[in-house]
Amino acid sequence: MTSVGIDRQLRIRRTLEHLRHGTTDEVGDVLPFGPADFTDPEIARREREEIFGRVPSVVASSGELPEPHDFITRQMPRNRVVVIRQEDGSVKAFLNACRHRGAAIEERESGRCRLFSCGYHRWSYDPDGSLRTVTRSESFGDFDKSKYGLIELPVEERHGLIWMVDRVGAPIDVAEWLGPEMDAELASYGLDNLVTFRAEGFDEPVNWKIMQDAFIDNYHIQYAHPNTAAKHVHTNVQTVEDFGRHARMTSARKAIDRWLEEDPGDTDLSPYVTDGHFLLPNSTLLRQPDDHYELLTFRPHPTDPGWCRMEMRLLVPSIEASGLPQAKWERVWEKNWEILLQVLHQEDFPLLRDSQLAVSSADMAGMVLGRNEVVNQIFHREIRKLLS
Ligand code: FES
Ligand SMILES: [Fe+2]
Repeated sequence: MTSVGIDRQLRIRRTLEHLRHGTTDEVGDVLPFGPADFTDPEIARREREEIFGRVPSVVASSGELPEPHDFITRQMPRNRVVVIRQEDGSVKAFLNACRHRGAAIEERESGRCRLFSCGYHRWSYDPDGSLRTVTRSESFGDFDKSKYGLIELPVEERHGLIWMVDRVGAPIDVAEWLGPEMDAELASYGLDNLVTFRAEGFDEPVNWKIMQDAFIDNYHIQYAHPNTAAKHVHTNVQTVEDFGRHARMTSARKAIDRWLEEDPGDTDLSPYVTDGHFLLPNSTLLRQPDDHYELLTFRPHPTDPGWCRMEMRLLVPSIEASGLPQAKWERVWEKNWEILLQVLHQEDFPLLRDSQLAVSSADMAGMVLGRNEVVNQIFHREIRKLLS
């Protein structure tokens, strides 16, 4: 077994011990926080500048751009962007803005395109961002076209994901940002060999941190999801490793109950837990039993603290790797995706929209995170650090 594997076994053992004793990992104290964190435009502005303008966050999975000239467009917290797979397989990102008078060079959310042309006066750009043609150039007049290519943003592809720092000219080093533990953990998963079965975004009238908080929370499962997630996952039974920025949380699945009395010995316990990874600033990666992954990302709105965009991705083993016939493979994952959507839309989103309305009430007062809400405490602690 690799050291990552041994480490995983020990961690799951620790989670099993919690279940046996009715305990969970805890931090030293409760953490008070206020409603302004989710409503104050000045805090939201600083988050865009000091967090998303400085540190890498996930913009897409590699599988969303499999071939050269594949692109996606996104509204990032600071910039509206287009991310394009290049001829040589690398990825580049640009502001989705024409250098003539600023119209979008691409309106669609995704597609494949060899030449991006602006709908306003039809200037066109190569996938590498250079300005190829200026229409009616004789009368438009002379200028240095090499200075009017698309404006490039820093992106890096690592662990099957595309990461961006949302600021022109900012350095990007995803390995450094992840740190040695999380970088090694993500590398051990081979995410770059997986297929992005589905990726979808939802604009919600909720601050991004209220959303993020709900997807690192093992305390709400049996109350908010009694007939869905709670059938499979225990509530308030979690082992957490705090890596300083990021954190790993191991939650006991109900199937682990078979080991409550019996000693599992050398049995591989991975199928009995969900390993969650909080990736500062705004993603949760869940590793589910049979080696598929759910990636949840929460991106602040560019101006309104009361809105965000959540993106959900389902990363699964390819048809070949799964050994399933194609129709069965599609059925299995389609069903899985539908369940995820249903839980999200029917159970999480209504609660979270209500939270946003509540924190927006004029006289709302302070709130508090428990000692058992370890990852939420890490998230809030790290956000405060980035803003200070
Ligand atoms: S704004 Fe793009 S061509 Fe004029
Ligand atoms: Fe939930």
